[in-house]
Amino acid sequence: MSQSNKPLATSPLGGRGCGLFCWAVPILLFAFAIRLCGLLLDVEDVYEKGFALYNILMLPHQAYEDFLQSYDVYTHATDQELEDAYGQDWREVEMRKHKHTYTVVQYYCALVGCQKMYVAPLFNTLRGNEENQVIFEYQLARWLKAGDWDDQPFNACARRAEDPNAVAKKTKRVLEVGCGQGRILQELGRFLGADWKLMGMNLDGNQLRHAKERPVEVTMRDLNHMPYDWIANASVNGAYNLGAMTFQRDLEEHAQEMARILTPGSRFVVACDWTNFDDEKGLNLKDLEHRRLWSGARRLGAAGRYCYSEKEYVAAFTKYNFKHVHSELYGVRYVQALRDVNVLRVLAAEWMQLVAKVDLFGVLDQALTMMQRFGTDVENALEAHDRKLFTYCGSHVFELQR
Ligand SMILES: C[S@@+](CC[C@H](N)C(=O)[O-])C[C@H]1O[C@@H](n2cnc3c(N)ncnc32)[C@H](O)[C@@H]1O
Ligand SMILES: *[C@@H]1O[C@H](CO)[C@@H](O)[C@H](O)[C@H]1NC(C)=O
Repeated sequence: MSQSNKPLATSPLGGRGCGLFCWAVPILLFAFAIRLCGLLLDVEDVYEKGFALYNILMLPHQAYEDFLQSYDVYTHATDQELEDAYGQDWREVEMRKHKHTYTVVQYYCALVGCQKMYVAPLFNTLRGNEENQVIFEYQLARWLKAGDWDDQPFNACARRAEDPNAVAKKTKRVLEVGCGQGRILQELGRFLGADWKLMGMNLDGNQLRHAKERPVEVTMRDLNHMPYDWIANASVNGAYNLGAMTFQRDLEEHAQEMARILTPGSRFVVACDWTNFDDEKGLNLKDLEHRRLWSGARRLGAAGRYCYSEKEYVAAFTKYNFKHVHSELYGVRYVQALRDVNVLRVLAAEWMQLVAKVDLFGVLDQALTMMQRFGTDVENALEAHDRKLFTYCGSHVFELQR
């Protein structure tokens, strides 16, 4: 073995100063660290959370003040109460308060892994909210394409279209009513295919500002303002509302408008929203206990005032020529999902308590108050579910008949 007699070419401790080996070690270590980060952290996720944190820190103080003051809107359950509280312009005030809520809430949602502002039922117990949202959106796409529920949705993430940026002739259109930042639409596009044009409407310009950075086409409109005059008759191939149904003042009017814009044979889906268990035995706003729970749950979901039952949905939509295809309440899947998100919330609050000690921006105190409320509100929502009053969440699928 002649090799063993050779001196080591680049001994780090050799007398020839720092050679190649000296550089190779830190470079290798650095590369390894980057690789490890890449394995441990989802880059897109880190970017999203960083962006949310940046936005939170940059929020003007006034936005927080407005936000904290907007909370009282959730205690009013009827037109009369709103009028008594806010006077003549109550509709205007109510809307403004909701906008103030969303200005702040959208970034906190992003921080706790809930960029799309809803808690998905827990389909895959080994995964967090974000992946379960994708599973749900995969199912939503199937419903919109007039398919059934898929019993094996657990690899939904892997079934996303290969190239989300593929250019194709947009021959079909889907509309999300109350589209938030357009994140759900964007995800849905990857399941629907590149030939679908993704359209959204939302009241709040603040969220739409972010939506405009995505491959979606959004319009700033009030979902209660009929008709949706920028949409022609029979020109949409699927529509849904994910989490904004509680803002819908008049269900029949809404069903009528969906019947106008949808092509025959296409579907409208109430996707994952608060659902009253029963018209008579469920949520009853005359009962003070029920009201307390509903008000807390609304705060939790930054929700509107209306909590419809399956029966009410079916009555409104069948009146306008829709066929009721499917309904489901998520039960245990939802309860566990909510508990899981609450655990995240507790973790985030602990972390923030540490950071709050050096709170340079002066925003974390308010944030902590808000997180505490969130915890109480989760309790309210779970109690309402256990008492079979109302639940978050249910889905209802309707198909426009030919
Ligand atoms: C719970 S969020 C759900 C948003 C979106 N679907 C998501 O999950 O990210 C409810 C949305 O409804 C919007 N909204 C509330 N009232 C509205 C109205 N009158 N017209 C249109 N959008 C409204 C809010 O701005 C908010 O984006
Ligand atoms: C569109 O539909 C509405 C209601 O269904 C109807 O009154 C109106 O005439 C239709 N408009 C056109 C241009 O067909």
